[in-house]
Amino acid sequence: MRTFANILDDLSSGSNLSSDDMKFLLSITNKSEMQELFDYAYGIKSSNIGKTVYFRGIIELSNVCEKDCYYCGIRNGNKAQERYLMTEEEILNAAEWALKNKYGSIVLQAGENTSGHFIDFIEMILKKIKKFSDGRLGVTLSLGEQNKDTYRRWMHAGAHRYLLRIETSNEKLYRKLHPENHLYSARLKCLDYLKKLGFQLGTGVMIGLPYQTIDDLANDIIFFRKIDADMIGMGPYIVHKETPLADSFPNFDKIKEYQLNLSLKMIAVTRIYLKDVNIASTTALQSLNPTGREMGLLAGANIIMPNITDTKYRSSYQLYDDKPCLDENSSLCKSCLERRISSIGETIGYDERGDSKHFTRKKHR
Ligand code: 5AD
Ligand code: FES
Repeated sequence: MRTFANILDDLSSGSNLSSDDMKFLLSITNKSEMQELFDYAYGIKSSNIGKTVYFRGIIELSNVCEKDCYYCGIRNGNKAQERYLMTEEEILNAAEWALKNKYGSIVLQAGENTSGHFIDFIEMILKKIKKFSDGRLGVTLSLGEQNKDTYRRWMHAGAHRYLLRIETSNEKLYRKLHPENHLYSARLKCLDYLKKLGFQLGTGVMIGLPYQTIDDLANDIIFFRKIDADMIGMGPYIVHKETPLADSFPNFDKIKEYQLNLSLKMIAVTRIYLKDVNIASTTALQSLNPTGREMGLLAGANIIMPNITDTKYRSSYQLYDDKPCLDENSSLCKSCLERRISSIGETIGYDERGDSKHFTRKKHR
């Protein structure tokens, strides 16, 4: 029978993980073996991309959303949720704050909105950011499914990375988590457009979803390679009480540790398998454990996305329950993170865009 030690030995002699190896590693529950897995993945990260953490200041610019995903707190069907769209001035102020504070990149994220007004608004904001920052700020978009023309316009206006999670690579599971008119094939098509347009492509999944199996998770990692993703953003599924999926986990508190460990194992196995991609240690990890994001960095992640949205909007952008940093403003988050990152012996890549090494290496091949 294949053991944990066999897998590590084979890796050390240069072979990569098989799908069965991934399932084995994702199933480990013994604490010292888990630690060994995280340490191994951390070693792969250090030797492939170093020990620098890059910040992407995230601006959650609107919670208006046309979609109705069964897991998400800002789904259209949550009528109790008040909706907002930040003003141009508020968004530009946050972006300027990021530049001044030497964050190399920002992420503009919002609910899905395909209205002409919104598309024009984002295009205008992108042009202004490009102008005031002299193109020095990296700009990632996370604005859901759009048509090819919109993606192209936003790219020309200054965005160069795009995050669009597949949520799960299992189409049957995707159907269980979304209404009928949310098509898995449409999501795939968007990922394909983004890649062909030349965006640095980010995708990811939720981990520990109801009905999700270890096979699904191993297939998710294989999917990341198949679409040749440059960036991975994935995190634990966390119940939001005002959503249809909340009933699937009535005692969510009891499985928090399981969700956390499974997420850390996913980060580690993804790092070992894909080596030089950017992997985010997501905020959702921190809501399961106060030091969850540091744990993510130590299991192979290299990106943190500090929230730089004006605090007055934060409580309205609750994708899941107990999202952290609701009251901490951007400066507080910055010093808090500096402390956390130096406590684990990593440095912050200030004033650097921190592009995915996977992407830059591909370009030079
Ligand atoms: N738990 C964890 N992640 C969630 N997201 C949405 N709802 C939840 C939830 N309940 C994630 C989705 C989406 C991203 C912006 O937030 O993966 O792509
Ligand atoms: Fe926001 Fe620590 S990261 S307070």
